[in-house]
Amino acid sequence: MSVFLDHASTTALRPSAKKALTEALDLLGNPSSVHSQGRSTRELLEASRDTVAKAVGANRSEIIFNSGGTEGNNHAIKGIYWSQNQTGAKKTVIISSETEHHAVIDPVQWLAKNQGAEVHFVKHFANGMVDFESLKALISKHGPSVALITLMWVNNETGVITDIPRVVQMASEFQIPVHTDAVAALGHIPIDFQASGLTAMSLSGHKVGAPIGIGALVVARSAKPISLVHGGGQERALRSGTMNYPLAASFAAAATDATAELKEEMNRLTVLRDEVEARVTQLVPSAIVTASGADRAGYNAHFIFPGTQSDALLFLLDQEGVCVSAGSACQAGVLGPSHVAIGMGFDQAQASACVRVTLGFTTTADDTAAFIRALAKIHPIALQAAPA
Ligand SMILES: Cc1ncc(COP(=O)(O)O)c(C=O)c1O
Repeated sequence: MSVFLDHASTTALRPSAKKALTEALDLLGNPSSVHSQGRSTRELLEASRDTVAKAVGANRSEIIFNSGGTEGNNHAIKGIYWSQNQTGAKKTVIISSETEHHAVIDPVQWLAKNQGAEVHFVKHFANGMVDFESLKALISKHGPSVALITLMWVNNETGVITDIPRVVQMASEFQIPVHTDAVAALGHIPIDFQASGLTAMSLSGHKVGAPIGIGALVVARSAKPISLVHGGGQERALRSGTMNYPLAASFAAAATDATAELKEEMNRLTVLRDEVEARVTQLVPSAIVTASGADRAGYNAHFIFPGTQSDALLFLLDQEGVCVSAGSACQAGVLGPSHVAIGMGFDQAQASACVRVTLGFTTTADDTAAFIRALAKIHPIALQAAPA
C-alpha cells in the first residue's frame, strides 16, 4: 500500500465514524415520519446535530446538514447574496480572496457573471496571510453596498490561518454578513462559531474522517440565506430533502474525535511537518516553503520546486509509492498552476511546480521519511523532465 500524504484532499475513515455509519444503516425509518421507527432515526439525527454543534461551538439549531463543503459554500454565498438583495437593496459587492477554494471562487464568479455582483479580492502578504489593511480599505470604500464577505478560515493548500473573528469585527461596522469556508479548519484549529460572530460557516465530513458526501452549513439563528433546493422544508427549510441520518451520525462521530484529539494531534503533526520542511530544504536548497513564517495549521507543507513541473513530481513520487498532491486539480485530474500560489504572488512557472504534503491522524514518521527518500530519488529526474 502506498504512503498517503494527501490528507487535505480526503482523510481515512475513522473507526468511530465507520461504526456509527454501519449501526445507523441497520435502522429503518424516514426521520420525518411520525411513527416510532421514524422517531428513532430522528432521534439519532438530532443527537448527531447536537454533537456536531458542540464540536464547533454552535447552537444545535444552527447546524444544517448537507452534502459537504461545495454545497455549503454555494448555499452560503448565493443564499446570503440573494437574501441581501431581496428587497431591492442593491448590495452587489462581494469581498473574497483569490486564494479561496474553487468551491468559493466559482459561486462568487457565477454571481458576478450572471447576477451583476461586483467582486473585490483582498490582498495577501507573500506568505499567504491576508493583508488586513486591504480588507479595511475595501470595507471602508464599499461598506453599505457589501452583500457579504467570504474568507476561508484555513487555506487547504498552505494551511495559512485567517483571523476570522477579526474579519467579523471589521465587517460589523456596516453589519456585513461574513461566511467562512472552514472545511480545512475543522479538526486542525479550534473553532467556536458563536464566539466568532460569523453568519455562516461551511464544514465537510470527509476531511475529518467521515465518508464523502456529508457536511453542514452552520447558519446563525438570525440569518436566513435563501435555499438552493426547495421541497419538504427539512433543515429549517434551508435544505430540503430526506435527512441522511446514517451519514450525519458518522460525521458527528468523526467531528467529535477530530476535535477531541486536536491539540495533541496538531502538536504531533507540527513536529513532523516542520521536520519535512527542514529536510526538504536541506535536500533541495532551491525549494520554497510557500507559507513560511505565516500563522498556519500544523498539517500542511506546501512547496515550490523551481525548474520542475507538479505533474512530473506527483507522477514520479507516486511511482515510488508516495501519494501527495499539487493542491489544484481540475475535474479531469489535469494539473494546472496553483491558483493559491498565484494569489500569493508567485509566477506561473513557480505555481506550476508546487507539491502539497498534508498529514493526518494515520500519518507516522515512517510515512514522512518515505516521502523524503522518494523525493531524493525523483527530484533530479523531475528537473531533467521539465521542458527547457
Ligand atoms: C477548503 C475547501 N473547501 C471546500 C472543499 C469542498 O468540500 P467537499 O469535497 O466536501 O465538497 C474542499 C475540498 O477539497 C476544501 O479543501
